[in-house]
Amino acid sequence: MTASYEVRGNVAVITLDNPPVNGLGYATRKAAAEGVERAEADAGVVAIVITGAGKAFSGGADIKEFGSPKALAEPNLLSLIALVEACSKPIVAAVHSVCMGGGLELALGCHYRLASPGAKIALPEVKLGLLPGAGGTQRLPRALGVEPALNMIVSGEPVNSEMLAQLPGQKLFDRIVDGDLMEAALAFAAEVADKRPLPRVRDLKARHAEPQAFFQFARNTVGAMSKNFPAPLRCLEAVAAAVNMKFEDGLRAEREGFAALMVTPESKALRHAFFAERAASKISDVPDSTPVRAINKVAVIGAGTMGGGISMNFLNAGLPVIILETKQEALDRGVATIRKNYEGQVAKGKLKQDKYEQRMALLSTTLSYAEIGDADLVIEAVFEEIGVKEAVFKQLDAVMKPGAILASNTSTLDVDKIAGFTQRPADVVGMHFFSPANVMKLLEVVRGKATAKDVLATVMAVAKKIRKTAVVSGVCDGFIGNRMIEQYSRQAGFLLDEGCSPQQVDRAAEKFGFAMGPFRMGDLAGNDIGWAIRKRRYQEKPELRYSASADRLCELGRFGQKTGAGWYDYVPGKRDAIPSPVVGEMLDKHRAALGITAREISDDEIVHRLVYALVNEAAHLLEEGIAQRASDVDMVYLTGYGFPLWRGGPMCYADTVGLFNVVQAMKRFAKNPLDDAKFWQPAPLLARLVEQGKGFND
Ligand code: 3HC
Ligand code: NAI
Repeated sequence: MTASYEVRGNVAVITLDNPPVNGLGYATRKAAAEGVERAEADAGVVAIVITGAGKAFSGGADIKEFGSPKALAEPNLLSLIALVEACSKPIVAAVHSVCMGGGLELALGCHYRLASPGAKIALPEVKLGLLPGAGGTQRLPRALGVEPALNMIVSGEPVNSEMLAQLPGQKLFDRIVDGDLMEAALAFAAEVADKRPLPRVRDLKARHAEPQAFFQFARNTVGAMSKNFPAPLRCLEAVAAAVNMKFEDGLRAEREGFAALMVTPESKALRHAFFAERAASKISDVPDSTPVRAINKVAVIGAGTMGGGISMNFLNAGLPVIILETKQEALDRGVATIRKNYEGQVAKGKLKQDKYEQRMALLSTTLSYAEIGDADLVIEAVFEEIGVKEAVFKQLDAVMKPGAILASNTSTLDVDKIAGFTQRPADVVGMHFFSPANVMKLLEVVRGKATAKDVLATVMAVAKKIRKTAVVSGVCDGFIGNRMIEQYSRQAGFLLDEGCSPQQVDRAAEKFGFAMGPFRMGDLAGNDIGWAIRKRRYQEKPELRYSASADRLCELGRFGQKTGAGWYDYVPGKRDAIPSPVVGEMLDKHRAALGITAREISDDEIVHRLVYALVNEAAHLLEEGIAQRASDVDMVYLTGYGFPLWRGGPMCYADTVGLFNVVQAMKRFAKNPLDDAKFWQPAPLLARLVEQGKGFND
């Protein structure tokens, strides 16, 4: 069933019923249209109510249908809305909750709209790189006013129904109904059954006192904020059409904009990211029905950089946190940092004082393991040394109550080995947060070989609660994100050897869209971290080649921003990266020692060597089962590594370029005597996909 039909008294009720969010796919549109026709034909019916079953009125057009013939099959959304609007009997939309995109456009085609307070109203198409394509840009400005409608359409953000109903002169909602919405809608339908003419939003005027000046101002603002995304400006032009054109012409302009945006790589990337985010929360052998353990109290071991940030996530979500340290000074320092962070948010007006106090009241500290035993989840964030982890996990095993989840935030150590320090490896899992842990969206959930399914299901649910994007990774050195970034960093190093300056590589990467190039990133994170890893690698994998330029840098004590100098120079107290003559000289000497003559390297080559290094390593991760799916890799890079959202992640980008072309480029890189020919050997999965003419995300 995709829409049900019933007659209550003399009012027909059409209920959209396409779980989970009543997406307006072909079958639902068809069933809704049939309902309208049936009601129109039934002399006993005097009015119609349209509503949605379950948790939504409607989440909009069925995004899964995009690009398939079903999306356009009649009745398409425009035809359904036209049918509703032209109906000779009044149609009332009863909006009890989520009403978004095509769902709102359908409601706007109805003659009347009633809503429950708290219903989430939005035209979020812009977040998918689109504009509302079923009349939303034409009807919302008419119903709500040009400025609030433009804000909603360009931001895509949901607004509560009762807020919108308070806007002066608005015609979006006829009533906000506390209590039983369906009863109210039936009564309202009976009340308006005989009123003619039927009110139609299309007959209203979208007016603005100073349209030219307003739209010019909006163009400047929106243009500046949406550099790499074409949709927001096209949304704006469509709203301008609502003011400047007749309804039908505006509708045509909107349609053209929608069709043009639908085929842009940016929209494809954003739609990919939408589904990738939801797919990442699913684990193939852990069904949604897996019971989860209750998490009502959290303990964090270590109040350093990560421990503090991790704690804040739980405090923000209203969960009590107890932090354990070895020394009182460390606790005091950690708590002071948390306070400072919150106070910064209060000062910027991002957090209310009383909320800040509520959060701090949930925080306690201890030096004694005896006090944390009743926590449901404990996250260890102590020094990255296996001996320290061993001591901590042995203590946790001794004190934590049965059923408690024992998590480690280790970034490089073997989670299976850590689990082996306990008598309960099934309760041990990796929760790899990214720094700053209270800000970064990504959480890698590291599944040990013994981790229980309900532990995984619980951690995924906890991640949702603390608003993280959780991606499951198997156990390996670096997990998904850092194992890939190591290959990217190796390429960045080879590029220096061959003739690039750090600023040239960073500029090319940032022009491509990375939030930060590899060398600015190194200076921010601390170049000593990579140095320590390389020293380990030189022992473990002597066959693996690295550029020694980063070692030379560290030998100069240039660890990055924290030492006031790294790949760049820094003015004390500032973060601006200033190209460094010392580094230039160091690189010249380094090349001379290797007998390398610097060559010109194009931005194109820089970017492709960096990105394809990520892609090839990811293909190995997929083959090994460390990553579950290519779209998970994309989520890791979009949410944890500053990969440009409008490119959809490295795997989506590689698919866009075409894997055949990716492999051709890799073959060229392999011929470069200064590169690592062995690495550029296409991973077996990549080679297979090329053979089959497929992409990673097909
Ligand atoms: N079409 C198809 N599936 C949709 C969908 C849609 N419009 N909206 C959500 N879903 C699916 C999700 O993919 C997910 O499926 P899964 O369980 O198989 O992974 C499921 O619904 C639940 O989604 P969420 O986890 O996001 O559920 P929430 O309850 O947290 O949020 C929501 C519900 C607020 C509706 C949120 O899903 C959302 O924002 N959806 C997108 C809404 C949107 O962008 N609508 C515009 C569509 S484009 C359009 O209408 C074009 C028109 O103008 C012509
Ligand atoms: P940090 O050095 O800032 O903090 C570690 C804290 O642990 C210190 O306050 C220390 O006093 C405390 N500690 C040490 N031994 C302890 C013990 N036996 N019991 C209780 N407390 C103890 O280190 P940071 O950066 O917070 O890293 C912690 C963990 O998080 C490491 O495993 C690291 O690999 C991981 N990690 C770090 C990231 C980063 O960017 N800093 C990112 C992701 C993970």
